[in-house]
Amino acid sequence: MTRRFAVRSFGCQMNVYDSERMAEALLDDGHIAADEGEADIIVLNTCHIRGKAAEKLYSEVGRIVARADRAGQPRPTIAVTGCVAQAEGAEVMRRAPAVDLVVGPQAYHRLPELLRRQAGGERGLVDLDMPAVSKFERLPARTVQRVSAFLTVQEGCDKFCAFCVVPYTRGAEVSRPLGAILDEARALVDGGAREITLLGQNVNAWRHGRADFGDLLAAVAAVPGILRLRYTTSHPRDVTETMIRAHAEIPQLMPYLHLPVQSGSDRILEAMNRRHTVHDYLELVERFRASRPDLAITSDFIVGFPGETDADFEATLELVQQVGYAQAYSFKYSPRLGTPAADRDGQLTEGVKTERLARLQALLAAQALAFNKSHVGRVCEGLIERRGRHAGQWIAKSPWLQSVVVSGDRLAPGDLVSLRLVSAGPNSLEGQVLSRNLPASW
Ligand code: 5AD
Ligand code: SF4
Repeated sequence: MTRRFAVRSFGCQMNVYDSERMAEALLDDGHIAADEGEADIIVLNTCHIRGKAAEKLYSEVGRIVARADRAGQPRPTIAVTGCVAQAEGAEVMRRAPAVDLVVGPQAYHRLPELLRRQAGGERGLVDLDMPAVSKFERLPARTVQRVSAFLTVQEGCDKFCAFCVVPYTRGAEVSRPLGAILDEARALVDGGAREITLLGQNVNAWRHGRADFGDLLAAVAAVPGILRLRYTTSHPRDVTETMIRAHAEIPQLMPYLHLPVQSGSDRILEAMNRRHTVHDYLELVERFRASRPDLAITSDFIVGFPGETDADFEATLELVQQVGYAQAYSFKYSPRLGTPAADRDGQLTEGVKTERLARLQALLAAQALAFNKSHVGRVCEGLIERRGRHAGQWIAKSPWLQSVVVSGDRLAPGDLVSLRLVSAGPNSLEGQVLSRNLPASW
């Protein structure tokens, strides 16, 4: 039976990637993509990393039910997928009986089959399996069309940072085989992708036989038609020399590195079970910058981890000053049930966390603005991604992942243009298109 479906993402880039693959699987099974208001099936692809993830989910389910009831329409089938599904399991249905299916992040290749069983009258379907044969082997080939596409190459985490739920929701570290990754990269290029971002919770933990992540970067860059290559998120402990050298040697590899450090205090890094020191991190930053001097470096930070003193927090600010970030994400520590730090002594008050976060974010915002301003006057390549807010405007991405607003009437998504950066704000820049410099064969 053909049904109309909508998939909504609540999480990280991997969650967005999973949503695309679920949509492709549903299209492949004969269903039709629709707006949420018109959908017979709504997939809520959830995130559990921080904040009130479960509460957000339940209020969302409530809104969907209320909307259908108000319109006098039948209630849609609701499937809850992603990391909250994995963490809460059947509890989701107990708390929200309007939910029909609960499917974990390693089992979503079975979504079409589960929906068929549900349409056939089965109730209470929960699939949290982490099967031995990966979902990637069972999903249909990529069909999504994007100028800049995601490609998951590694999933899961064996690091067990004391704050983090990912090792429990996503499972152990698994690398996809090289051949499967290259096949997917070629399919994405055939669908119009010019830029590919390799994804993994610890993307640089990718290994295949004797090949490490640096070798993977070289192999993907060699796929004809890939003009730009990026990756995220890296872990300091998995950095290899090949990966660092890749930034000097692979022209398609963009000068951008997301290398989360979380804290600038060795005491807190130890309590977090990060298993590296501030010194180790700074040394890596130095090696990356030696390999690619114009590298944009970004990070994630957590403030208010249990036991964090004023001095620990000052050490984080100090580290930020030392590195000089292009951009960064920072969060208040949020206890996750079942993780080691959740019931430790020394939990901080919301007030302290709020105050520290504001100070850190002010510093990071100033650095982001300084980074953008330091690029004014430069000429660089930009990849046209989408239309801007006003007529004739386009959003291009710079090599350093900045959004650049440009004007031009003969532009189209996927064009690689030469730009002059003319002004900068905290979140974007303005540029002038100097020339379209796509190879003639495009
Ligand atoms: N509380 C706050 N932030 C967290 N992160 C992960 N777990 C938590 C948590 N319990 C942040 C980390 C990580 C990013 C993806 O989310 O900074 O790098
Ligand atoms: Fe959210 Fe982390 Fe799961 Fe991504 S991996 S969906 S950020 S909990």
